Amino acid sequence: MKALILCGGTGTRLRPLTHTVAKQLLPVANKPILFFVIEQICAAGITDIGIIISPETGAKIRGVVGEGRRWGCHITYIWQEKPLGLAHAVKTAQSFLGRDAFLMFLGDNLVQGGIKHLVTGFETSKAEAVVQLKEVHNPQQFGVAVLGAKDRITGLVEKPSKPPSNLALVGIYLFKHGIFEAIDRIEPSWRGEWEITDAIQKLIDLGYAVTAHRLEGWWLDTGKKDDILEANRVILDEYTRRVNRGFIDTDCSVAGRVEIGPDSKVVNSIIRGPVCVGEGVTVRDSFIGPFTAIGDNSVLESVEVEHSVIMENCRLYNVGRIQDSLIGDNTRVQQGDLRRQAICLLVGADSQVMV
Ligand code: G1P
Repeated sequence: MKALILCGGTGTRLRPLTHTVAKQLLPVANKPILFFVIEQICAAGITDIGIIISPETGAKIRGVVGEGRRWGCHITYIWQEKPLGLAHAVKTAQSFLGRDAFLMFLGDNLVQGGIKHLVTGFETSKAEAVVQLKEVHNPQQFGVAVLGAKDRITGLVEKPSKPPSNLALVGIYLFKHGIFEAIDRIEPSWRGEWEITDAIQKLIDLGYAVTAHRLEGWWLDTGKKDDILEANRVILDEYTRRVNRGFIDTDCSVAGRVEIGPDSKVVNSIIRGPVCVGEGVTVRDSFIGPFTAIGDNSVLESVEVEHSVIMENCRLYNVGRIQDSLIGDNTRVQQGDLRRQAICLLVGADSQVMV
């Protein structure tokens, strides 16, 4: 079986971060979201992976991910020139996929427990497609499915104003070759995209069996700032171990599961886990609270940070509490001239500042 990871999209809801970084490469617990996706696919025994990339971010994704050697898999890049929808992306990958059954995984989605159990047995099963579903409280924002007997799906609709159920399509699907027949028979939706949801509905209309797999664990769809913070919280909570590969001086208090990367030093500071500190980081005279990730080569002095993602090479000096924040690479945050009661900003397009 092959896997297809979709990494198109411009990530407009994550600007300004996505002006310079593909949304699938934004870090949670100091690791790009896409790396978790690739790890889950490899853990399911799939080593032939195609990644759909777009002209906007494709080169960056390719540069960071490479050919897959670090995971022991082989990655093929497939260009989708225009963002014409998920079904269009599948069609674009047809020559890579051939006649094999395949797993499709949206590159900005994470699920608890991996996908091995989902993949096992699919090739020999009667189902032409399997979709993963999760109960949500806001089904209007997703593809939504209606379940019949024996986990058979009887209908699907993309982003309905009146959802027929609260079961959202998680961005993880299994398909056999029939999906291409279905894609060839659909029209673009109101948003001008060839929707994979419509193609799956077409499979059902053509008489194929489409079954559901209910996800019991968490599902993180990392499209917005709060989603990234939530993903960071959940991943830190689940995976952080207490490891010190750097230096912590005796004036520090480090409690709970805190990971300190190589060449990092923590001086006269309090850290309460789960916290992940990357490589070459300096933390001095500071308080780092739970659910914080600090990227490589950042420096924090006399600050309080909690429930935040600080990316690489940042400088944070003498600021009060920073909370619920996403701070992109190379950002500087510092106390201004105390004689002036003014906020002094240099922020790029689409930034958000809350004071
Ligand atoms: C896409 C799918 C939708 C699915 C969602 C999961 O939506 O079209 O059916 O529920 O991913 O993340 P999009 O991200 O394109 O709005």
